Amino acid sequence: ILRATDAIRRFPLIDVGGIPLMSTIAENWKSISEFCPDPSDVLISTYPKAGTTWTQEIVDLLLHNGDAEVCKRAPTVVRIPFLEICAPPPIPSGLDLLRQMKPPRVIKTHLPIQLVPKGFWENKCKVIYMARNAKDILVSYFYFDRMNLTQPEPGPWDGYIHKFMKGQLGWGSWYDHVKGYWKERNERNILYILYEDMKENPFREIKRIMHYLDLSVSEDVIERIVQLTSFQVMKDNPMANYSYIPKPVFDQSICAFMRKGEVGDWVNHFTPAQSQMFDEDYANQMKDVDIPFRFNI
Ligand code: A3P
Repeated sequence: ILRATDAIRRFPLIDVGGIPLMSTIAENWKSISEFCPDPSDVLISTYPKAGTTWTQEIVDLLLHNGDAEVCKRAPTVVRIPFLEICAPPPIPSGLDLLRQMKPPRVIKTHLPIQLVPKGFWENKCKVIYMARNAKDILVSYFYFDRMNLTQPEPGPWDGYIHKFMKGQLGWGSWYDHVKGYWKERNERNILYILYEDMKENPFREIKRIMHYLDLSVSEDVIERIVQLTSFQVMKDNPMANYSYIPKPVFDQSICAFMRKGEVGDWVNHFTPAQSQMFDEDYANQMKDVDIPFRFNI
């Protein structure tokens, strides 16, 4: 059981190499950036709210041949440490957890590609990048920042949209994040997957991950993994739904971590004027790439 301490608060963001990060991460930046993985370690990278937890569950199940019980051995944050997270107890520090684990490990990060510790590239670690359309991310992040009491106050919705467009939220610009990994995906052998594709056809996308990881599990097992990683099953799984994080850290009475898990919920939050303004800016910020994001499926 995790217990919160008085040290839990909404930490400010501090600039690290041009990226706003939680102050506790910024203060420990040297040891985070010097982390050296084993070549067998696998990195799951995302901008916040892109479906990180979903991808983590899929990868853990693939590595354990779809064994649901084994994948309930511990909460997500313990099974797959969050590399840069560093906050007072009860949040386990990523580096502390990683030191106690033997490779091959699966590691989570939200760092933009240029801040990922060099060792991941030098050791040619496998990297799975999950991306999600900007408008659904924005809505999801807005609710998350209200209930995650270690993140800065989100403030009102309209202002939050502008902070997102300017790259002022934790882990910086979504636009730069998705583009950074996209441009390097072939060169660095990054598996780039889209939340919307996973929603549309999880069987197909889980198979892609399986091939990328050089695993071979039966079609029955993939089918089982599809079921075990459905939104509803994960929402009810105490080892995957973040219910083990105490209320002073994640106040799920404000909003559940497993909130909706849908594509296109943004239409219920953006006014037509906000949507138009956002789209114009989006076209400009994304003009140099052609990532096949879908805002509806
Ligand atoms: P919503 O807030 O839109 O519901 P992350 O894990 O990167 O923080 O992302 C969290 C988002 O992914 C939340 O989005 C959450 O509901 C959604 N999510 C988590 N598990 C999911 C699943 N199995 N299927 C679909 N969406 C899922």
